[in-house]
Amino acid sequence: MPSHTVCELRDVSFTYPGAAAERGTKVRPALSGITLSIKDGEWVALLGSNGSGKSTLAKHMNALLVPTQGDCIVYGMSTSDADHVPAIRNAVAMVFQNPENQIVGTTVEEDTAFGPENQGLPPGDIARRVNDALAATGLREKRQSPVYTLSGGEKQRLAVAGALALDSSCLVLDEPTAMLDPQGRAQLLAVLAELHRGGKTLVSITHRLEEIIHCDRAIVLVRGTVAWEGAVPELFQSTEALREWGIFIPPLAALWKDLHARGITPLPSVPSLPEMVQALCP
Ligand SMILES: Nc1ncnc2c1ncn2[C@@H]1O[C@H](COP(=O)(O)OP(=O)(O)O)[C@@H](O)[C@H]1O
Ligand SMILES: [Mg+2]
Repeated sequence: MPSHTVCELRDVSFTYPGAAAERGTKVRPALSGITLSIKDGEWVALLGSNGSGKSTLAKHMNALLVPTQGDCIVYGMSTSDADHVPAIRNAVAMVFQNPENQIVGTTVEEDTAFGPENQGLPPGDIARRVNDALAATGLREKRQSPVYTLSGGEKQRLAVAGALALDSSCLVLDEPTAMLDPQGRAQLLAVLAELHRGGKTLVSITHRLEEIIHCDRAIVLVRGTVAWEGAVPELFQSTEALREWGIFIPPLAALWKDLHARGITPLPSVPSLPEMVQALCP
């Protein structure tokens, strides 16, 4: 496999163990026949309605789950090989929906240092990793703060700092903005955009189409299968399909599509709100 592939799923199916016995019926797999690959430095959006398999797929990318059938290869290592799991977990970090569940330290600094300390790095290296991670997530001023004093958005950026301090080259974020207010959401997205510019590989799971404007590619899951894959501007054009897939179309995207269809706005793809304002009221 070429080194520029971060993660490759080959015909992956997954059924939760025990699910059939619990319900006494034949259970649909959570994932069926998924084939996809994530390239180094890409920012991929993973979309789909509730229960479509997004979290199950995300958990395959750092070996929290292994395929019932097929192969999941991360940086050339099969997640089904237990010997590779520690290296895979270092390379691909997960950030979950609820920031409260990801805190391990008392202060911002301690929390961020937890990963590199566990990796057994020398103190100088730990300090450097922590500094860099807090700078990248805009938390430098808060380094001495007790974690309980942080806002939801700051806690979620702290979770990202923890992943950066591990020196993971890929971050998989499972609805990281779901519990944040608009400001917390915007700040987290700005951090992700900056990480993307710096070359990190990012996989963002979200319900909100307005959050994927800067992603390179989108993958839509429907009932555990890949229903669509392609560039983000094309996805925004597919209003009918989006409705069918249970994905909400944000007002800004709907407005852009209307204006674009009438040739009113020159903007080539769905803009950010300030870009739209600038285009309409120059
Ligand atoms: N721990 C579990 N045990 C059994 N079934 C599960 C479990 N977690 C998720 N599922 C089922 O797997 C399917 C996909 O779920 P999930 O990956 O959580 O979807 P999403 O993240 O897109 O909402 C759903 O049908 C869900 O009910
Ligand atoms: Mg989920």
